[in-house]
Amino acid sequence: MDETVGGHAAVAIDLGERSYDILIGRGLLDEGQSFDGLPAAACAVIVSDSNVAPLYAQRVASALAGRYPRLLQIELPAGEAHKDWAALNKIFDALLAAGCDRKSVLFALGGGVVGDIAGFAAACYMRGVPFVQVPTTLLAQVDSSVGGKTAINHPLGKNMIGAFYQPLRVVADLATLDTLPPREVSAGLAEVIKYGAIADDAFLGWLEAHVAALLARDAAALAFAVRRSCEIKASVVGQDEREGGLRAILNFGHTFGHAIESGLGYGEWLHGEAVGCGMVMAADLSARLGLIDAAYVQRLTRLVARAGLPVVGPVLGPERYLELMRVDKKAEGGTIRFVVIEAPGRAAVREAPDELVAAVIDAHCA
Ligand SMILES: NC(=O)c1ccc[n+]([C@@H]2O[C@H](COP(=O)([O-])OP(=O)(O)OC[C@H]3O[C@@H](n4cnc5c(N)ncnc54)[C@H](O)[C@@H]3O)[C@@H](O)[C@H]2O)c1
Ligand SMILES: [Zn+2]
Repeated sequence: MDETVGGHAAVAIDLGERSYDILIGRGLLDEGQSFDGLPAAACAVIVSDSNVAPLYAQRVASALAGRYPRLLQIELPAGEAHKDWAALNKIFDALLAAGCDRKSVLFALGGGVVGDIAGFAAACYMRGVPFVQVPTTLLAQVDSSVGGKTAINHPLGKNMIGAFYQPLRVVADLATLDTLPPREVSAGLAEVIKYGAIADDAFLGWLEAHVAALLARDAAALAFAVRRSCEIKASVVGQDEREGGLRAILNFGHTFGHAIESGLGYGEWLHGEAVGCGMVMAADLSARLGLIDAAYVQRLTRLVARAGLPVVGPVLGPERYLELMRVDKKAEGGTIRFVVIEAPGRAAVREAPDELVAAVIDAHCA
């Protein structure tokens, strides 16, 4: 599925008429070519946040110069705590106030928060306008910008209000990672480790050998990690776009992780931090279900810790965790469903008895 576009790596995501390319490379933001071939429109809008806009919005605007008669910029407040109705409405208000029509193109420039909100806005505005993901965090480049899940949070549950809506293209400029705070690099590595755990044990081995290089932002290591992660995500989403089954494995670590995020209040722990710790808990649950051995749990725990991620969860009490996990989108009729590791590089979705889950929580939260 690998190709090259304009000298940069590209991963194709194959979804019939909704297929698109993920362009990956250093310097893509400044290359007009990155944005060639998108639909013509009277109005284009760069949606970004208060951290990313000052760094990169002008560069994207320059690359888009001359293509659209009107180019608007919308700046949302940064952070998971603002992945909400107010931010979404801010986009609609700006689009309507400017008279943007239903062919307007939205560019989501930022991390997963901007991508998820702007993608959802694109899905809803005038029943759907085209949009392009321009991810600037490691997490967004390896995960959230790819695959078409868009959403905002609700106080009662994460990502509860949203839509499946695919972008026309993903433009992942690896050079934007140079300005990312170290804590955000670690958070992105959580999702990268996830791909190794669920789909590619050799990649997990590569990560064990290169985690220090990745934390040091070695360009070649980052390029490989982003590309391999996108290939795995593209393959899973290509087989199951709307999560009828297989796609659920991409939520490894997320049932525990989402409970941590919403239990502590959004933004307290980063999404990737909660997922890192959640993967350790989900691996332990897999071992307690007799699927994998304790050595694998230790191996994954070590890698998560080396990536700079927490491996001990916050004390919310097992009852609170279970209550939060029952509103998880994978839960059906109140029965919680967990992504478990069946064998290194292979995942599945299982139910687990509450007592076993409570034992995992007790063992990993202090
Ligand atoms: N849609 C999906 O499939 C999917 C998948 C995984 C995660 N997500 C969602 O993604 C979100 C997390 O995304 P995130 O980790 O990118 O968080 P984020 O969007 O909050 O970005 C992290 C922080 O880094 C800043 N930032 C972004 N790019 C920067 C850069 N290049 N230089 C300096 N600062 C920069 C942001 O302003 C923010 O403060 C969560 O809401 C999660 O639910 C969605
Ligand atoms: Zn995630």
